[in-house]
Amino acid sequence: MVSKVSASGHKAEAKPELRIGVIGAGIMGSNHARVLAGLPNTTLVGIVDPLPEHRTRATELAGCRAFASLDELIAEGVDAVTVAAPTHLHHEISLACIERNIHVLVEKPIASTVEEGHEIVAAARRAGVTLMVGHVERFNPAVAAIKQAISGEDILSIAITRVGPFPPRMSNVGVVIDLAVHDIDLIRWFTESDIVEVQPQLSSAVAEREDIALLQFRTASGVLAHINTNWLTPFKARNVTVATRGKYVMGDLLTRQVTECFGFKQDGSYSMRHLPVGHDEPLRAELIAFLRAVRSGCVPAVTGDEGVASLEIAIRCLESPARPAVNSSAASPARKGPRRVVG
Ligand SMILES: NC(=O)c1ccc[n+]([C@@H]2O[C@H](COP(=O)([O-])OP(=O)(O)OC[C@H]3O[C@@H](n4cnc5c(N)ncnc54)[C@H](O)[C@@H]3O)[C@@H](O)[C@H]2O)c1
Repeated sequence: MVSKVSASGHKAEAKPELRIGVIGAGIMGSNHARVLAGLPNTTLVGIVDPLPEHRTRATELAGCRAFASLDELIAEGVDAVTVAAPTHLHHEISLACIERNIHVLVEKPIASTVEEGHEIVAAARRAGVTLMVGHVERFNPAVAAIKQAISGEDILSIAITRVGPFPPRMSNVGVVIDLAVHDIDLIRWFTESDIVEVQPQLSSAVAEREDIALLQFRTASGVLAHINTNWLTPFKARNVTVATRGKYVMGDLLTRQVTECFGFKQDGSYSMRHLPVGHDEPLRAELIAFLRAVRSGCVPAVTGDEGVASLEIAIRCLESPARPAVNSSAASPARKGPRRVVG
């Protein structure tokens, strides 16, 4: 049981009502506020953003108060916060909250660097506060159905496709940190094993940062995994396939259709069935899981250590791109610079 007294003087165990704030009123933070505003036994104290127009938008969406600085929010008294500011601020903001014994859910990726991630984890451990990382895809009901379907199976390989058009606003990260980190987390979670080998192929076709990534991995348990991600596909697609010794499971994370092939026979025939998939909004399920961990003091669904491990693999992909074979006619020369965007 968490018996920390928060900045607000509230005891998490004694008072079922939790006071929570959101930091960052952008796309994700506004959604956090919208969901938190509707949760029982939770008071959304407000949302913080330095930009007045973002504060106004979030206030209208969630019907909550808005503050220009973190200190103003903390002065109101909060037991917990969600951090949805730009990634390069996760470290500073998370530490500032943890120092005040405030429980933290920090959006993915946990931080900009592995060192910063470790510092956040260590600070939370010292303070005894709950730290969870927002790897929201784990709470996608289709992902949960896949996880259940492969439970107890001997997993052989995993292939994940996460593609789509360029985001409307380019941040300072490429597809590996922005998108593939979701799937690195899924591979680690599905296999319950660490990634020990990384073979990345990256390209910057249009953007300054990598906008195409084909990433291959091997886990300590021997599973081969592959992520295909890019910002060059005109439509969004999110697909997962898992081959086990006894099953072949296919999931569409957008339509939430999950199908498994099983009962393989010598003559090549097999059976196929659609699996039941829930309807929860992933972000709502994630925030409920965070609040449950805060109230109970139990280990959160996605720990800080797991967030750091996935970030570390993503950074390894960026730092060790596979080299083209020397004197090979198949190896294409490195691009001189980004291709111009037309239109
Ligand atoms: N889990 C997911 O699926 C998912 C999806 C998108 C983004 N994210 C993560 O969420 C975070 C935010 O992404 P976004 O797309 O919402 O970005 P965004 O640019 O839309 O929003 C960031 C907001 O933070 C505000 N901000 C800047 N400095 C601040 C400060 N010091 N204090 C408080 N707010 C500050 C900005 O004004 C902006 O409104 C990133 O870490 C990103 O990786 C996660």
